[in-house]
Amino acid sequence: MAVVTTVERLSEHVGQTVTLQGWIYARTSKGKLHFVQLRDGTGVVQCVLFAKNVSPELFEAVAGAGQESSLVLTGEVKADERAPGGFEIGVSEGRVLQAVDGYPITPKEHGTDFLLNHRHLWLRSRRQWAIMRLRDGIVTALRGFFDQRGFVCVDSPMFTPNACEGTSTLFSVDYFGDTAYLTQSGQLYAEASAMALGKVYCFGPTFRAEKSKTRRHLTEFWMLEPEVAFADLDDVMQLAEDMIVHVVGEVLRRRRTELEVLERDLSKLEAIQGPFPRITYDEAAKILADHPESEFVYGDDFGAPDETIISSHFDRPVLVHRYPAAVKAFYMKRDPEDETKALAVDLLGTEGVGELIGGSQREDDLDVLLGRIREHELPQEAFEWYLDLRRYGSVPHGGFGLGLERFVAWIAGVPHVREASPFPRMMTRLSP
Ligand code: 4AD
Ligand code: MG
Repeated sequence: MAVVTTVERLSEHVGQTVTLQGWIYARTSKGKLHFVQLRDGTGVVQCVLFAKNVSPELFEAVAGAGQESSLVLTGEVKADERAPGGFEIGVSEGRVLQAVDGYPITPKEHGTDFLLNHRHLWLRSRRQWAIMRLRDGIVTALRGFFDQRGFVCVDSPMFTPNACEGTSTLFSVDYFGDTAYLTQSGQLYAEASAMALGKVYCFGPTFRAEKSKTRRHLTEFWMLEPEVAFADLDDVMQLAEDMIVHVVGEVLRRRRTELEVLERDLSKLEAIQGPFPRITYDEAAKILADHPESEFVYGDDFGAPDETIISSHFDRPVLVHRYPAAVKAFYMKRDPEDETKALAVDLLGTEGVGELIGGSQREDDLDVLLGRIREHELPQEAFEWYLDLRRYGSVPHGGFGLGLERFVAWIAGVPHVREASPFPRMMTRLSP
C-alpha cells in the first residue's frame, strides 16, 4: 500500500510511491498520454499517465473526466525543476471517483456576479485558494502576536441589547418577543474583560447594516479587538503598529507561495516596518487642504478619497490621531489639551486601501461618560453595566478594532473585500 500524502508534503517523498486524493484542476491529453493537474486543497501537482503504465480502465476513465472530477492517483514522486511546484507524479494506479462534465467555472473570464453566485465553487480556484490560505495565515499570526504578549482571548457576545458604534447601522433580531441587535463591535464587552484580565482581545463576526456599496464594506465581517487596562492613546498606537509589522513579517515568511500566486508586489510588503508615521487630524487636514482634488471640509470625518490622498504621502501605514470628537463615538476620551478632539486613532494602510484600524483611549470618568450617553441620546439603562466599569476601579484604558477582511485584502493586494471573505455578505448579497 502506497502512503497517502498531500501535495504540500511531496518533498518528503521523492523517489517513493504515494497516493494523492483530489480533483482535476485541468487536463490535457494527447494520444497515449494524459497530463492531469491534480489539486488536493494543499496545492496543485502535475500527474502524468502513460497508457502503457496504467490499466486501460483508468486510462479510459481519465479520458472522460473533465475539470473538477474527483479522483485518487498513485504514482512515483519525481523531482523535476521544470514542473510547476518542482514535482511530478508518474502515475501507476488510480480511480476516478466521480467524472464531471460541464463544471461551471472554466479557465475563461467570468463576470464578478457570476463568480459570486458560484462562490461555493469559486473557492476552488487558485487565486481564491491563495487568499483563503493567506487569511488563515494572518489569523494565526494575529493570535500568535497577542498570545506572545500575554493577552487573553475573551470573546464578546453577538446578540446585544444596545448599540456600540451608532444606532444607524444596527441589524435587529426578534429575541423571544424583545429586540436584540447583532453586534457592531465587541469593544464594550472587551472593556469589561480587560478590567477582569488586564490585556484581552476578542475576535469574531461583527455586523453593520451599512447601506454602502463600496469595495471596503461588508455587512458581516470579522473584527479583532484588543483592549488594554492602564493604556493611553500612545500605547494603543504602538500596539497597532507592532501587530501589523509582526503579521506582515510572518506572512512574508510563511505564506510566500500564496503571495506569489496572487502576484503580490513583495517589496510593498517588505517596506512595512516601524516606526509608522503619526500625524494629527489637523495635519492630515492640512495635506488635504493643499491637494487640488480634495473636497474635504474641515471638521468632517475623512471619506475614502481623502484617506487615499493622505496615505499616498507615506510608504508605510500612517496613524492619524485626535479627530474632532463630534464625528467619533460616545465612549472616546477627549483630549485634555483640546476638548474638541477625541483621543482617537485610525490607521490608514498603504496603496490607497484606507482605514484598516479604528481605536481610541476610552472615557474613564463616570460623570463625563454619563454626559456623553445623554448627548448621544443613548438609553442609559442599557449602559448601566458599562457604567459600572467606571464605578468600580476605573482606570485609563484603550484599544482598537482591526477589520480582518480589509486587512487580508490589503496584504493580498486584492482590490475588494468581498474576495477576502469565504462567503461575503453585502447589502445586495446574502447567497450562496
Ligand atoms: O472604526 P470601527 O467602526 O471601530 C469600532 O468598531 C471600535 N469599536 C473598535 C474598537 O476600538 N475596539 O471599526 C473598526 C474596523 C475598521 O477600521 C475597519 O477595518 C473595519 O472595522 N470595518 C469594516 N470592515 C468591513 N466592512 C465594514 N462595513 C466595516 N466597518 C468597519
Ligand atoms: Mg472607523
